[in-house]
Amino acid sequence: MTALLAIAATAAAGWLTIQAATGGWRRILIRSEWATIMRSCGLAQRRDRETTHKPGAGEKTSPTKQIEHLPRLWALWGRPLGPLTARTGATYRIWAAKGQTIDEIAKKAEVIASSLHCQRVIVDRYSPRRGRITILWKDPFTIPKPWAQPIHGSTSPCFEVTGRPLVLPLNDNNGGSWLVAGAPGGGKSAWITALVADWVRQPGDTRWLYGIDIKRVELGPWAPAFQAVARDRNDATEILKRARAFIDQRYTDLEQAGLHGVPLIPTPEWPYLVLVIEELSALLSGEGEQVATLKQLLAEIDELGRAAGVLVIAASQKPTSDIVPSRFANAIPRRVLLRVPTIEHAKSILGWTPTQAEIDQLTTHGLALLDVPGRRLHLARSTYEPVQSAVALAAQYAIHPTSTGARAA
Ligand SMILES: Nc1ncnc2c1ncn2[C@@H]1O[C@H](COP(=O)(O)OP(=O)(O)OP(=O)(O)O)[C@@H](O)[C@H]1O
Ligand SMILES: [Mg+2]
Repeated sequence: MTALLAIAATAAAGWLTIQAATGGWRRILIRSEWATIMRSCGLAQRRDRETTHKPGAGEKTSPTKQIEHLPRLWALWGRPLGPLTARTGATYRIWAAKGQTIDEIAKKAEVIASSLHCQRVIVDRYSPRRGRITILWKDPFTIPKPWAQPIHGSTSPCFEVTGRPLVLPLNDNNGGSWLVAGAPGGGKSAWITALVADWVRQPGDTRWLYGIDIKRVELGPWAPAFQAVARDRNDATEILKRARAFIDQRYTDLEQAGLHGVPLIPTPEWPYLVLVIEELSALLSGEGEQVATLKQLLAEIDELGRAAGVLVIAASQKPTSDIVPSRFANAIPRRVLLRVPTIEHAKSILGWTPTQAEIDQLTTHGLALLDVPGRRLHLARSTYEPVQSAVALAAQYAIHPTSTGARAA
């Protein structure tokens, strides 16, 4: 008996030591302080409940007593994030209290973070009452991460709260086009660059890259690895016409081959054509026949492109329908919402209205809400490398080894 007690005591002491050394004590604290924290954040719900006491003679109603309901954490200790010796936080399944919604808890994320002396609290909604809460005592988004290793047929332009890269197929049944949008300086070009870095490193005979860069400076470093980079509207129209003709040819080829669409992973037999557009608003703002043609071509390319293996990666400061036609924006499945000044901007980018709490989280350059069909809304930060890395990669994968700059279409 004594021996058993000694073993139990040693195991408990060992467990506590490990928890103390690896930051697990924070999870113990979160669990033990949970009720107090919820009350101090105003998330306790008080409700009347009838007592079992039967009304006596002369009493009309049963007396009631006040019951307190609190949001509940499901897992006992939560799931730790980060490696054993450098834990960054923990995630828990959370249930809102009766009569409360997960969105109400999400609105208080900042207050919960401050009560727990944490850097960031993220609340994901699974259903009105069910969700996930991530409590971070070290914010994984503050440290930039370099581009991930390339994977054939996949792209991983960003990393999640766990610090791990998010791997997505280059194309899927919903399409592989991207719209990256947000306020100036929010990190659009960093996202585009991370996506381009993945495409550039795909086998050379499986992809053709075309760029449109009216600002002239963003895609410049990539030009050697691109088939062509247009720097004015005339060249841009030429490239879009080429892509449109390519789609028609592709459908003829697919018909002859008896296929409904190209394989979801690019192959030498069915290479993909990728159009990278930096600053849609610069390309499409204004009036005139040329702008109308550009808008028409872009909309057609995006609607017909997926099955033909033509994808678009576009950045825009303001994708409102007066500048970017909603027909084009609606056909783009993958949306990246960076920092925006108002919720209306966020709505025009995502196509639906996020909550204020969701957009308030976008505090760092490159940190975005990622809306990919078939997946939950993610908070993710783009990977980032300086322009020299782009120059080096473009030289390594150059298709114009002798050219120093962009080629016109
Ligand atoms: N993921 C990231 N990691 C680290 N730093 C980043 C990241 N994304 C952006 N930045 C920083 O933010 C700066 C602005 O980013 P970027 O040029 O991508 O913004 P932008 O939205 O394209 O701006 P503009 O509207 O002027 O084109 C970059 O120079 C870089 O220093
Ligand atoms: Mg930019």
